[in-house]
Amino acid sequence: MARIGLRPEPAGKEFLALTEPPDWDQVFGSKGPLELELGSGMGGFALEYCRRHPETRYVAFEWRKKYAREMQHRARKHGIGNLRVIEADARAYLPRLFRPGSLAAVRLHFPDPWWKRAHQKRVLLTADFTQLLLSLLAPGGLFDLRTDVGHRAHQMLATLEAAGLQNPLGPGAFHPFDPEEVPSTRERRYLASGQPVYRARLRKPLR
Ligand SMILES: C[S@@+](CC[C@H](N)C(=O)[O-])C[C@H]1O[C@@H](n2cnc3c(N)ncnc32)[C@H](O)[C@@H]1O
Repeated sequence: MARIGLRPEPAGKEFLALTEPPDWDQVFGSKGPLELELGSGMGGFALEYCRRHPETRYVAFEWRKKYAREMQHRARKHGIGNLRVIEADARAYLPRLFRPGSLAAVRLHFPDPWWKRAHQKRVLLTADFTQLLLSLLAPGGLFDLRTDVGHRAHQMLATLEAAGLQNPLGPGAFHPFDPEEVPSTRERRYLASGQPVYRARLRKPLR
């Protein structure tokens, strides 16, 4: 990622002290689908997606302050009002900030693979965390997974399907590249280099 400095204004500090979910209609000053992104980097996906979908209310977690604040800065600079950035560990705050069944989509793009054994505890898609994400999704809600790490792609897809998410393409199937979709920052790099990307678009069952 590009070299950037740390911007002084924290991102999403107001959400961190909450003990129960905010009224998101009030937070955004609008109604519409509520979407969540985990580990958005500097927001290559979030900023463009929010620009294209002004009716969507988008909450992006990124625990690296530099990236989170830069994303917030860019959103403000470009008048993107439907994005809220929170500089925190998503795992610690999700249950307090979102009601069950309230999310239209959860997006996880190129999660860190955490190769070292000592870092395994940072892996995001554990079975328990996946169950939590599933509970926060609305019936019919989308889980958008993208990664370049082949064997992790298969593991994560298996975890998501085992939790009860439905794969419209059939169990274990990945989604072909869709040129209409917004690529994430990392995805743009792989699209340029031709390196394979594994994409899954799963749905929470309607009942
Ligand atoms: C490999 S980068 C991918 C960034 C972006 N999604 C993309 O596709 O370009 C993974 C990002 O997830 C962030 N991250 C990892 N675990 C996190 C957590 N528990 N909460 C918030 N952010 C996290 C990292 O700081 C990093 O910016």
